Amino acid sequence: MKQILIPIILSLLFLSCDSKEGLKDYYSEYFPVGAAVNTASIDSSAELLAKHFDSLTCENEMKPGVIHPKMSTWLWFTADEIADYARDNEMVMRGHTFVWHQQMPGWFFSSMGKQVGREGLLERMEEQMQTMGDRYNDVIYAWDVVNEAISDEKGEYLRESPFLEIIGEDYIAESFRMARRVMPEAKLFYNDYSCLDPVKQDKIFKLMKDLLDQGVPVDGIGFQGHWNIYYPDGETLDRAIKRFAALGLEVQITEMDISIYRHEDRDTRYSEPPEELLELQAERYGEIFQVLRDNSDVITGVTLWGVADDLTWLDNFPVRGRKNWPLIFDEELQPKQAFKSITDF
Ligand code: GLA
Repeated sequence: MKQILIPIILSLLFLSCDSKEGLKDYYSEYFPVGAAVNTASIDSSAELLAKHFDSLTCENEMKPGVIHPKMSTWLWFTADEIADYARDNEMVMRGHTFVWHQQMPGWFFSSMGKQVGREGLLERMEEQMQTMGDRYNDVIYAWDVVNEAISDEKGEYLRESPFLEIIGEDYIAESFRMARRVMPEAKLFYNDYSCLDPVKQDKIFKLMKDLLDQGVPVDGIGFQGHWNIYYPDGETLDRAIKRFAALGLEVQITEMDISIYRHEDRDTRYSEPPEELLELQAERYGEIFQVLRDNSDVITGVTLWGVADDLTWLDNFPVRGRKNWPLIFDEELQPKQAFKSITDF
């Protein structure tokens, strides 16, 4: 009996030690993998998250407009719940975000009925960073200090925003300098979308290079990664990663999802995801993750913008109420072909 049982027990033990169970185990030699969450998804996907991911990003809960809606009101509840979930499960977090033209509270830019001045706004930004840093610096290792500052308009460099209007062009440099001052341990990122678009990429590259040339403390660039099943190809991504890394920057994919609709398609709607599109999605995920693994010397994190297809912002963007299936787990929280394509290597 013993002769039969011992080899069985040993092989079971061996199998359980060797088997890679969660996404994070497949990627442990490459980079941390993360997911954007909200208080609904840390509840509905609690087990899935703990099993598969190393890192969390709050989808909205740490944005100034949500957490600091009035000058004297901080709403800690939802962000604290997520940070505690991360601590309890020994995960790290990416902080998102401080300086953005959206989801800022109105009070931030006004003072006694008038527009706040440059110094007043800089002070508020620093207070925001200091307060967030003090509360979460044990769990947050990196911050998206500035989000989406580059314009999509032809011939326009920086996007119009109250920060640009009130502080001037150096608001980005000032943001990074104050972030380093008040959160010296955190990695500091510039985060944007369309980083692979040639025209926008040139503008973002210029911004990063200018900041670094001035000695501004920027550690990395975040490519948001709101992509689709037809875009991008691996080569384009590979070139962009290498271009920014050559400046000495870390590169992260910070908000990845792969829509099953083309970017410009507002008309098509499916009630179930067509099988052939899920296959294309798996191919796209597979190709992208291959490039990310090949560049793991400079890729320091990859975050998906959501956990599973039951909860995704793309159900309401760019078309309200149009179901989308952009993630690697399905609506029943089961792994999709896309999960297999990024773990089968
Ligand atoms: C941008 C922002 C994110 C989020 C997404 C949409 O990419 O950076 O915070 O708002 O849009 O969910």
